[in-house]
Amino acid sequence: MNPPAQPTPDEVNQKLVDQYTEIAQLAGGLAHEIKNPLSTIGLNVELLAEDLNADDSPQARRALAKIAVVQRECQRLQDLLNDFLAFARVRKPRLESSDLNEEVRRLIDFFRPKARESKIEVVTYLQSDLPGVLLDRETFQSALLNLVINAQQAMPGGGQLVISTEATPRGVALHLIDTGSGMDLRTREKIFDAFYTTKSGGSGLGLPIARKIVESHGGQMRVDSEPQRGTQFTIELPVPPRLPRHDPPAPVA
Ligand SMILES: Nc1ncnc2c1ncn2[C@@H]1O[C@H](COP(=O)(O)OP(=O)(O)OP(=O)(O)O)[C@@H](O)[C@H]1O
Ligand SMILES: [Mg+2]
Repeated sequence: MNPPAQPTPDEVNQKLVDQYTEIAQLAGGLAHEIKNPLSTIGLNVELLAEDLNADDSPQARRALAKIAVVQRECQRLQDLLNDFLAFARVRKPRLESSDLNEEVRRLIDFFRPKARESKIEVVTYLQSDLPGVLLDRETFQSALLNLVINAQQAMPGGGQLVISTEATPRGVALHLIDTGSGMDLRTREKIFDAFYTTKSGGSGLGLPIARKIVESHGGQMRVDSEPQRGTQFTIELPVPPRLPRHDPPAPVA
């Protein structure tokens, strides 16, 4: 009798992908099942708080303080589920010809008030003749936003955030460098694991989602960090062969 045929590496890979997809679907379904009762709990607790607000007795004040704790925890679970669902279904990007520098400017416009409040100086070096890239702009913005919020959280006493772009032999690169707490090697090795966080109240999904988004654009994300000195994230994106360059229009002679 012939021995059973060994599965080919492709078959093994396909089996792993199928298993992963099944687990991801189950987890996504579970998250949805939790979301609805959780929002009912949140809503009812809010109504309870409204009822008690009219009552000035010490018992009512104490009950309200406890309700505030339940509300806070409900909100935390809701945020966690939303992050998880975003992670489980990073959609296939709808790519359009885009200018990476423009996306950085859009990000900074949004982030600047928060930066000012947190005493963070934002400095940009944007290479002017950068080749165009294909981006799903909304999804890509959310990945960038994750990175700048992490940088802000790593600089609680303020600091500097440098964002630069450049053409590279393989495409275009975006660097985000902060002068924050930095990370030791052990932390750095885990930051892209789902649910890994060093923050109380963090979901640990920000970076895994950001990296998944970058990879869905055919790009890569790298990190370099030194404790007490700061952190550099680099996103490298491929440049499609025939996209026009985003040069400023040539002056008319
Ligand atoms: N710029 C940074 N400087 C220092 N540590 C960082 C930086 N960015 C990420 N980290 C570390 O990586 C961990 C994971 O980051 P990630 O964004 O995935 O989750 P989080 O920020 O902890 O939670 P959430 O994104 O839900 O707020 C963080 O908890 C932190 O320890
Ligand atoms: Mg984060």
